[in-house]
Amino acid sequence: MIILLTGAAGFIGFHAAKTCLAQGHTVIGIDSLNDYYDIALKQARLSELQAHEAFEYHTLDIADDMALEPFRARGITHILHLAAQAGVRHSIDDPRAYIRANIMGHLEVLEFARHCKTLEHLVYASSSSVYGERAQTEQAFRESDITRAPSSLYAASKISGEMLAESYTQLYKIPQTGLRFFTVYGPWGRPDMAYFIFTEKVLRGEPITLFAPDEMHRDFTYIDDISAILPIILAAPPDQKHMIYNLGNSNACKLMALVEAVEHACGKKAILDIQPKQKGDVSRTLSDITSAKKAFGFDPKTDLSRGVSAFVDWYKTFYKI
Ligand SMILES: NC(=O)c1ccc[n+]([C@@H]2O[C@H](COP(=O)([O-])OP(=O)(O)OC[C@H]3O[C@@H](n4cnc5c(N)ncnc54)[C@H](O)[C@@H]3O)[C@@H](O)[C@H]2O)c1
Repeated sequence: MIILLTGAAGFIGFHAAKTCLAQGHTVIGIDSLNDYYDIALKQARLSELQAHEAFEYHTLDIADDMALEPFRARGITHILHLAAQAGVRHSIDDPRAYIRANIMGHLEVLEFARHCKTLEHLVYASSSSVYGERAQTEQAFRESDITRAPSSLYAASKISGEMLAESYTQLYKIPQTGLRFFTVYGPWGRPDMAYFIFTEKVLRGEPITLFAPDEMHRDFTYIDDISAILPIILAAPPDQKHMIYNLGNSNACKLMALVEAVEHACGKKAILDIQPKQKGDVSRTLSDITSAKKAFGFDPKTDLSRGVSAFVDWYKTFYKI
């Protein structure tokens, strides 16, 4: 495969690139290197990737008109579109960043795909946030559930991305697969996410803020389980169709279970600061992964304590603690 990978300096993009390169594919990575979180971390991920001969990298903003034009004659066979403005809470402070990256940017990727004669498959990142808040919170989210009640602008932008993708398959028969990721975590992870912030603060002996911890459950999904399945999904284009799959661990863990896993891995007790639920947060996420299991053999194996412990080991090495 010759893969155009957007968001290559991001958390999931970095791991996806590593897996694809290890399997002998060519990866053309692009990223805007925006400063939503530490650019040095993004650059460190890129340095690792640049050690591979089959990796090429360009800094650019996918939302710029024609930014992808130079790649048209590159014989790209697959697109893995992961670039986005991520994070639920930040969409309250900077709504425009979400429309620009997740809607305008997604549109530019679709336009590129539409005119790319060598393209076999476009795979893009959606999110569990499309499901919103549930009245029956015990039930797992299924791909066939109606997704019409986004709790945040981030969720709205991801639902919009799915709609844009669907229209391009209907119009131009582009084979596409949308992946609804559920709280992906692990080494080289995102500094804006709870597991990263908790680790940082527990190691420093600072209090961690928990928003409505009795209510909060997340389907924490370990990065290696995700990065292992991505090349398999890329290599399996649906015939002129647009498919959507949940990719989660299929296990709703309490927020306190995350705190305990971090405490155990750090060998230190957390100081807790309990606060009410935040705007935009949903109480519980849980994936039904029957479809991805059937289509690709997706079978996540990493439990929270093992995954968090691998993250904390990486954190201590990377930040020399
Ligand atoms: N990590 C998760 O738990 C999770 C959960 C659900 C969905 N997702 C989705 O998966 C994808 C990857 O997420 P991640 O966790 O790796 O996030 P990330 O923020 O680490 O990676 C996204 C990358 O995209 C880049 N980017 C942003 N806007 C861009 C633009 N306009 N042009 C070019 N590059 C741009 C950023 O610089 C960043 O490096 C995103 O689409 C995200 O919405 C992630």
